[in-house]
Amino acid sequence: MPPTNSTNSSAPSSPEILPVISVLWPQCPPVYIFSSPSDVTLRPAPASNPSMPTDITILDLSAYVGLTAVGAITLNILLGTLMVFRYSPVRQWPHRRFNYFRLHNLSGYTALSLAVLHPVILLFDKSKKFRLLDLLYPVHSPSQPLENTIGAVALYGIVLVVVTSYLRIRLGRRLWKSFHFSIYVATAALFWHSLFTDPALKNSPVDWFDGGKLFVASCLLTIAIVAALRYRHSAQKSRITPARQGWPS
Ligand code: HEM
Repeated sequence: MPPTNSTNSSAPSSPEILPVISVLWPQCPPVYIFSSPSDVTLRPAPASNPSMPTDITILDLSAYVGLTAVGAITLNILLGTLMVFRYSPVRQWPHRRFNYFRLHNLSGYTALSLAVLHPVILLFDKSKKFRLLDLLYPVHSPSQPLENTIGAVALYGIVLVVVTSYLRIRLGRRLWKSFHFSIYVATAALFWHSLFTDPALKNSPVDWFDGGKLFVASCLLTIAIVAALRYRHSAQKSRITPARQGWPS
């Protein structure tokens, strides 16, 4: 905010200046307005807006990685459901060739990497006292052991699903599929963990208006809608199939 030149002959008199002061007051201290130009010392502008913190703690980083893992799992489940619906991007919108099976696999590997990285980052926060054993077996972990244990159940479930998918051809379709369904157990555990863990690790009640929690809740809602559509699709299919079987060939 440039200082006002008080030596200017056309400068407004005191009563006229009052509305100007009332506008400038919150941004510019009065000393800039009333002192002579030689007295004016401009203070350096603050480097950043103090009301917008830019420091990211180790705990924040771990939370962001965990939230990205939740996003990757949600994308993975959505793409997997498209396969169940026999969706074809060539026949349907956008009428273009697009290998979404590859994207389904890629999102699975991304989710696994981030889900492993998220607890590993906690080891670098010395004040929280997490040891490697607290991540592998969090039953006695330093804070929120129940929430962390449920997180570990989710992590082991994701590892199981991704590794058995990699070995799909060798396992055979039947065995692979039974392992693949454990993604639902892993998903339930990961949503429970993501919603009920306090990101500050202070055992505070859940802040349902926190951006992270709102993001997780919207992912959960998306998966619930897709699961309901999938259930309806399977129910319709099983109703149509016996009727067709009765048709004369
Ligand atoms: C050994 C397994 C796990 C452990 C020990 C663990 C531990 C923790 C801890 C201590 C927190 C609170 C501090 C922070 O935000 O970093 C947390 C939050 C969180 N974790 Fe995990 N976690 C595990 C697995 C997972 C997995 C597999 C996912 C998702 C794929 C996940 C997603 C999240 C999310 C989304 C949050 C909340 C972030 C927020 O509310 O801002 N975690 N976890």
